[in-house]
Amino acid sequence: MCGIIGIITKKDRNLIPDITASLSDLEYRGYDSAGLALLDGGVIRVYKCVGAPSQNLNSEKIKKSLGLSETNAKVAIGHNRWATHGEPSVINAHPHLDCRGAVAVVHNGTILNYAKLKEELIGKGHVFSSETDTEVIPHLIEDYLGEGLSLGESVAKTCRGLEGSFGLAAVSAASPELLVVAKNGSPLVIGVLKESLIVASSQNAIIRYTDRIISLHDGEMAELSAGGELVYSISKFGDASSAKVSRQEEKITGISMEDVSKGEFETFMLKEIFDEPASVRAALLGRSDKNKGDAVLGGLIDYSDYLAHISHIYFVACGTAHNAACVGKEIIESLSDIIVESAIASEFRYRKHNFPKLDTAVFAVSQSGETADTLESVKEAKRKGYKTFGIVNVVGSAIAEETDAGIYTRAGLEIGVASTKAFTSQLAAIYLLALKLARERGMSVQKGKEYITELERLPELLKKTLELSTEPTKEIARLYGGIKTINFLGRGIHVPVSAEAALKFKELTYIEVGSYPLGELKHGPMAVIDKESLSVVLSPKDELFDISKNSIEQIKSKGGKIFLITSEDARGDSGINKADSVLYLPVLKEKLFYPMLEVIPLQLFAYHFAKNLGRNIDKPRNLAKSVTVE
Ligand code: M6R
Repeated sequence: MCGIIGIITKKDRNLIPDITASLSDLEYRGYDSAGLALLDGGVIRVYKCVGAPSQNLNSEKIKKSLGLSETNAKVAIGHNRWATHGEPSVINAHPHLDCRGAVAVVHNGTILNYAKLKEELIGKGHVFSSETDTEVIPHLIEDYLGEGLSLGESVAKTCRGLEGSFGLAAVSAASPELLVVAKNGSPLVIGVLKESLIVASSQNAIIRYTDRIISLHDGEMAELSAGGELVYSISKFGDASSAKVSRQEEKITGISMEDVSKGEFETFMLKEIFDEPASVRAALLGRSDKNKGDAVLGGLIDYSDYLAHISHIYFVACGTAHNAACVGKEIIESLSDIIVESAIASEFRYRKHNFPKLDTAVFAVSQSGETADTLESVKEAKRKGYKTFGIVNVVGSAIAEETDAGIYTRAGLEIGVASTKAFTSQLAAIYLLALKLARERGMSVQKGKEYITELERLPELLKKTLELSTEPTKEIARLYGGIKTINFLGRGIHVPVSAEAALKFKELTYIEVGSYPLGELKHGPMAVIDKESLSVVLSPKDELFDISKNSIEQIKSKGGKIFLITSEDARGDSGINKADSVLYLPVLKEKLFYPMLEVIPLQLFAYHFAKNLGRNIDKPRNLAKSVTVE
């Protein structure tokens, strides 16, 4: 949700190619408009555009528009936006300036008290040009510079008055060799190179230059200076004495340049779907002990005794992560006596919680680890006295830091806005968690061993499922291309998978579709079934298979078309002859693992359907990868 970049370099050079390349790497965070500012001696030069930076920012165009023959500079900042305050437009795009065009700021996050600040600033004679919350920041800095404070002091004082979340970078025409950044609730890291320092909202925008980084923590700011030696100094903006904070350099781990490129694939989403066997393997690697028939979750080790005695779990998550958590509820409840509720985070944070404080673990599930609703739910749960745990992909992210302990899902970088490998990696982590909880509550060693044996087969079976699904899903998406009504249906553990399938389908195709428990059809949704409708039914051969066949009959009797996803051992079963299209999954002994396999053809079905409609697969309209606003 918005990406920021800042570069400061020892020697003047054309920084536009680096800024635009980094903004392209950050494009998954927002792609409705973009902009950059160059600190050209004592002048700030700004260029903004509507649309994605990868398509709209290029050196020649910028040079021409700025009327410059050269665009060399020592300092530059850039931004791509996912609009929250004000429509996507050139005026609302960042960087934002003060009244004199002498301070420029890029910002990721939300300033909650901007309306009050704006009113006060207007009262003092400041003139605003955009509808954004961000624009108060350069105007506040302008005031403090006017009081004689340095740029660093002005940014610190500004940050002290801001409520909400921010990762920001500020430059001033009066300090042409200085870049000041601050962080509170939004991600920000500094990449360290010999000749330059690079600040970005994510490590993915830094890995193309270096793997050496300095992390900033919430409440901290950094002054990066290129006057003489290239230096940075970190302090806490809340600390008026500006005492320096010392911080060790770290190495970026878990992502590589390969992750930020599509490789041989036409889209990141397709690449990430085909990554799933490997990402699930990584999520499971070294996390089970076959002899003991148990899971080995290092991140939870300090809480083993606590988790052995809990009676309740709240999962909190949004979107795809919520759907994974709903699968988790089914798994944990079927393997143990723990009562589980899977709550949508934006609801959880505002409602009453009746599960007993001391015996309830709150598990936040999140790919990005920065989703505002999920993060706030964790904070709310902590305020209420619950212990909190993370099932998070991005290492060191806000949710990972905020929770008491957790499990990293190790999915690697996910760039496609539509989550794919994040979902299966979350399932892998939850399968392990469920095993741990079940073994502490009476699951036998033998059963644990069988569970692990089956779990270990999943990467191979995912590979097989991809092979089995690739061509049929293309064909089925083509066959039903003109269909007007689509419902995704299943029973039991397949209900949240059908919800995930519907979510994927909607966000990629922009077509409204439904998702219901199969048995619920006859209580209303059946009214939409006719020969112009498609029902995508998830029903591998498990204990609910026979009852699902009933529903298939009912859909057929109303003339509806059916695409059935079942398992190979159902082949030849008379009940499934009614389906118009059938896809057979590899057979699993542990039926609870079917969600992992069945989501694959559903991701591909949505993918091909959307592709046939000419949609922007990696960047669906109106969406962003990390939703850091409420
Ligand atoms: O980063 P998170 O897992 O916390 O994100 C939660 C949702 O915003 C996310 O899963 C979203 O629903 C997916 N991108 C949809 O494909």
